[in-house]
Amino acid sequence: MVLKRILSGMRPTGKLHLGNLHGALGNWVELQNSGKYDCFYFVADWHAFTSEYSTTEGIKDNAVNMVIDWLAVGLDPQKSTLFVQSAIKEHAELFLLLSMITPLAWLERNPTYKEMKTELANKDLSTFGFLGYPVLQAADIIMYKAYGVPVGVDQLPHVELTREIARRFNFLYQEIFPIPEPLLTGVPKLLGIDGRKMSKSYDNSIYISDCGKVLSEKISSMFTDPQRMRKSDPGNPEICNVFTFHGLYSTQETVKEIAAGCRSASIGCTDCKKMLAQRITSAMTPIHERMNYYNNHLDEVAGVIVDGNRKAAQIASRTMEEVRAAVKI
Ligand code: TRP
Ligand code: SF4
Repeated sequence: MVLKRILSGMRPTGKLHLGNLHGALGNWVELQNSGKYDCFYFVADWHAFTSEYSTTEGIKDNAVNMVIDWLAVGLDPQKSTLFVQSAIKEHAELFLLLSMITPLAWLERNPTYKEMKTELANKDLSTFGFLGYPVLQAADIIMYKAYGVPVGVDQLPHVELTREIARRFNFLYQEIFPIPEPLLTGVPKLLGIDGRKMSKSYDNSIYISDCGKVLSEKISSMFTDPQRMRKSDPGNPEICNVFTFHGLYSTQETVKEIAAGCRSASIGCTDCKKMLAQRITSAMTPIHERMNYYNNHLDEVAGVIVDGNRKAAQIASRTMEEVRAAVKI
């Protein structure tokens, strides 16, 4: 049976946090383990350049560390192809050809583009490369003739653009590319320790690599139900971020006990948080052990990447032969 191919990427802009783990990354692992798909996951290091072009020194190390995080949380190179975008030069060639047929207006009206420009107002993003971000992403996706692209809602406009670009290519030259579907992750956005969306740029994240004192201090500083000033005040777990995390890390029974104890003011936030720190610690211990292992076996990580790159390169090279024939160059 031929498995349907799916493809997704992540920019290597720093260590991954629990929001990434319960969002995109967790979904990647699930799709891999479902056995239903031929999974391609890659490090979008050229995409990192679109916003980090003036401080590029961290990108290479981040790329390796990100693959270590992936392996530690359960991506398995026996099941998924893990590769690095910049190793497959065909992405740049396809990007160039697609840029010829992509109307500027499609890029200028892209909501993610407008949003990111405002969000990263401290960086000068009035560049050709940044505007062309979705064209490179389209090249990433259609290069592998992916049927599905597992992404969060924020990436939907990019996948939509990919579909339009692929249709345009097929129309102008030859029907080479299937039109990819977004595979939406159903996971809600996790909040950070300050109650805003968990994000590296807000400095409010719990990282997958956090352990020991760092982890327990972050958890003890988490915002809770603001009405619960004293232990004797009854709380409302529904609006408490600590409780959301318990939902992910504690047993159903504990979650029920906490909800009741919080509402009746029989447990205090300090104890509630201590329990959470313990739960997260034990869930993370095997992940940290694998992380340690890979950090001490960097050659193995490099080997995984070389193998993945080789598999990706084979497909990319075949696709580009078809593309060159179709565009008659
Ligand atoms: N833009 C994606 C992000 O910021 C990363 C990405 C690059 C990607 N190329 C891709 C995701 C192709 C899916 C498919 O998360
Ligand atoms: Fe939140 Fe727990 Fe405090 Fe209730 S007891 S407000 S769930 S931290």
